[in-house]
Amino acid sequence: MRYAVGCDHAGYPLKEPLVEELEARGYEVIDLGTGGFASVDYPAFAERAGRLVASGGADMGLLICGTGTGMAISANKIDGIRAVSVSESFSARMARAHNDANVLCLGARVLGPGAAVDVLRAWLAAEFEGGRHQRRVEMMMEIKACLDDQAEDET
Ligand code: RB5
Repeated sequence: MRYAVGCDHAGYPLKEPLVEELEARGYEVIDLGTGGFASVDYPAFAERAGRLVASGGADMGLLICGTGTGMAISANKIDGIRAVSVSESFSARMARAHNDANVLCLGARVLGPGAAVDVLRAWLAAEFEGGRHQRRVEMMMEIKACLDDQAEDET
């Protein structure tokens, strides 16, 4: 399974420990940057990772910024992306199990490396439960499709 991983300068301190954890568990990592502390704009990295996941070039995404929130908001603009910004294991697990989330967003100004790896482990260990949750995920994605159709009609 391939993980598209992106971060901004604020998220950079968490990238290495999280990538190490992914690789130690046998996941392939596609590192989309950034690679240092020079200030960059997080939406560009969210877009890269989101597009890669949406196109099937990666199976899942991991995005890290200061809070996780800017990355999640940005990635969720892309069709097919269900990005969540979470800071503890229960929400990470439920985001996979119930929401079939495909991009995990973490905040390096919220979590230290130990806690972040813990959240990632919970995410990786969980599986989408399908059933009634499948219907709800489909409803979620239909809202987006409906808004896109509406925008097209208005042009
Ligand atoms: C960068 O200063 C910070 O705004 C960014 O990393 C992120 O937290 C935004 O959501």
